[in-house]
Amino acid sequence: MRAYKSKVVSPIRLPDREERVAALERAGYNVFELDSADVYVDLLTDSGTGTMSESQWAAMMRGDEAYAGSESFDRLQDAVSEVMGFERIVPAHQGRGAENVLYGALVSEGDYVPNNTHFDTTRAHVANNGAEPVDCPLDGALGDESGGDADERRFPGDLDVAKVRALADEVGSERIPAVVVTLTNNSLAGQPVGVENVREAAAVADDLDATFVVDACRFAENAYLVRERDPEYADCSVAEIAREQLSHADAVVMSGKKDGLVNVGGFVGIRDDPALDDLYERARERGILFEGFTTYGGMAGRDVEAMAVGLREAVEERYVADRVGQVQRLGDLLADRDVPVVRPTGGHAVYVRADEFLPDIPREQFPGQALACELYREGGVRAVELGSFAFPDADRPELVRLALPRRTYGADHLDHVAETFDAVAERRDAGEISGLEIVDEPGMPELRHFSAHLRPVETEEAEAA
Ligand SMILES: Cc1ncc(COP(=O)(O)O)c(C=O)c1O
Repeated sequence: MRAYKSKVVSPIRLPDREERVAALERAGYNVFELDSADVYVDLLTDSGTGTMSESQWAAMMRGDEAYAGSESFDRLQDAVSEVMGFERIVPAHQGRGAENVLYGALVSEGDYVPNNTHFDTTRAHVANNGAEPVDCPLDGALGDESGGDADERRFPGDLDVAKVRALADEVGSERIPAVVVTLTNNSLAGQPVGVENVREAAAVADDLDATFVVDACRFAENAYLVRERDPEYADCSVAEIAREQLSHADAVVMSGKKDGLVNVGGFVGIRDDPALDDLYERARERGILFEGFTTYGGMAGRDVEAMAVGLREAVEERYVADRVGQVQRLGDLLADRDVPVVRPTGGHAVYVRADEFLPDIPREQFPGQALACELYREGGVRAVELGSFAFPDADRPELVRLALPRRTYGADHLDHVAETFDAVAERRDAGEISGLEIVDEPGMPELRHFSAHLRPVETEEAEAA
């Protein structure tokens, strides 16, 4: 049952097939280059693409645009303290701004930073400060190595704490200034992290004398999944679980564009503990240097207000059940059609195993990107490839992510996505889908999926015709 009705609408249209084929060609088979007006259901990302509530819009009118001492900042501070348990905050314009503030204050040249899996901007900020980002996920977390099936693990997103200890033995604990856990694990199919794992990670950080940081951008969705998967929390509210899970962290880094339920904004939260005073002071300074004064940090006062309200709404039961339920429903619709999806689904997106769905397309012809293009061609659906095209050097599964914007689409949109998969499967069975090759690749290889252009690989039959 939906928890919302619409009050403001945004018109969308499904361009006809000929228009979609032309748009795809113009975009160089790169969905980032499509105009949003040409997209019918946009599942490119859940970040900053959601719909705000009437309470958020009403709060925006209250925005205090004072440069210093803004009342809106006080209201955000109260919300972060009540919902997440952090009394001191340094606001930032979005998550990566907060990462720049925090990691610049925490890490130095030659350090190592373990994380369950670094999100790409986190990796970049750790590396930008001269440190080495080290991923420490569970082996075979998605069931594609020796570690078993993802379905058998309650929390495939967990940090492998033994790997963190092994890293400390190898490089020396003094070179590990921070241990990080990302909730949910976006780079690992959006899988949740257990409360017990966060407790263990905090204990390791304590042993290593390192700061324990949680990337909390999907903290409410993670808490909902904890309740579903861990009987110990079956009777707790999402708000209680979120508070408990975050209570083990020294600091949080937050992109408000996810569970802050806003289109822009973020912050660093630091516990009110004398041992963290230095870190807080350094983060404040960096905030002023890179983001803006301490009481607005790159946001308008009205955006600060919207995030203060959004954080409270994110842990409301009806909101989060509706949200995660939609993701699960899309996962079920696809699984019922034998589309290979990572199960159980995480909190914000459904991840499709493109190499299994398009088994005839070899890895070097980017099966994930081919699938993303087909979804657009057949149904005007935009998804994102997170496999060999986005991560050229990494040995990662060929995934395509369908990320659901919050409170934005309804059941009929999800049905349309599922039916689009039927149309793609028909073309696949008729042998009509080809792989892709890169035509030009401007800029850094790590960022090529944003800007590279591709074309379909000519098959022998096509060449002969
Ligand atoms: C886990 C994680 N951390 C950090 C970020 C960066 O946040 P932003 O896009 O607001 O800069 C993202 C964005 O998708 C994310 O998923």
